[in-house]
Amino acid sequence: MSGAARHRPLGVVTRGTTNPNRLRRVDNWIVATCADRLLAAADPLVVDLGYGATPVTAVELRARLAAGVRPDVRLVGLEIDPARVAAAAPAADPPGLTFARGGFELAGLRPVLVRAFNVLRQYDEREVPDAWRTMTAALAPGGVLVEGTCDELGRLASWLLIDADGPRTLTLAAKLTTLGSPAELAERLPKALIHRNVPGEPIHELIRALDDAWQASAPYATFGPRQRWLSAVTRLRETGWPILGGPNRWRQGELTLPWPAAPRGV
Ligand SMILES: C[S@@+](CC[C@H](N)C(=O)[O-])C[C@H]1O[C@@H](n2cnc3c(N)ncnc32)[C@H](O)[C@@H]1O
Repeated sequence: MSGAARHRPLGVVTRGTTNPNRLRRVDNWIVATCADRLLAAADPLVVDLGYGATPVTAVELRARLAAGVRPDVRLVGLEIDPARVAAAAPAADPPGLTFARGGFELAGLRPVLVRAFNVLRQYDEREVPDAWRTMTAALAPGGVLVEGTCDELGRLASWLLIDADGPRTLTLAAKLTTLGSPAELAERLPKALIHRNVPGEPIHELIRALDDAWQASAPYATFGPRQRWLSAVTRLRETGWPILGGPNRWRQGELTLPWPAAPRGV
């Protein structure tokens, strides 16, 4: 009996909205920041949980990891909706890419990395901690969960890196050429934070501080939105926000903070 058959999938079927290339920002970040874990793994198994109505973003993640990290990476797309598992079958390319039915329990798999994008946003905020705990309990030792949200086209995104001890970092990411102001990111926060963007909550302070730094960096717009973002991130750092990484990541339109210093949601 397969692992998938032994486990009752935990969760509920939700809307299957997805789009090609929608998750490129988080995928590129995973390639850049999680490569060591995958390279060190005896079995480089990755799960894409809740890939949606078509498996396009699972296919893309597998291709990005194979090209950018290691060619023998194995990606399993898990969906709680059996019809979506059946619909994905023609896209399978075993052993590197397969699809199965599964939920937060991860169908008995022990992956090094799980990407769960635009899955928890359709759940109640109170369900988030249990979902995190269930997923991280199923990881291989040292494994991580990348859980987040983005808009339809992937121009605005945010995600948490979570391990067995809970969230470690929060990343905000935007396509800079279409970004009006960083306040737009507030609509695409992870479920744990989206309802906390109100005065008095730390996530509200962060978004406001980033927006202020962006406004103060308006003169850099002459040199393009990338220079303006770099200036805003630098200003934010100078005012004491413990921003991680360096210009290589910031110039992608990203901002990552350690979770203990980042706004705490649930
Ligand atoms: C909005 S789609 C996201 C598709 C893709 N990840 C993306 O970001 O474009 C959410 C999908 O998650 C699935 N889903 C919801 N809860 C799940 C769970 N607990 N386990 C597996 N899949 C789940 C839904 O059936 C749906 O197809």
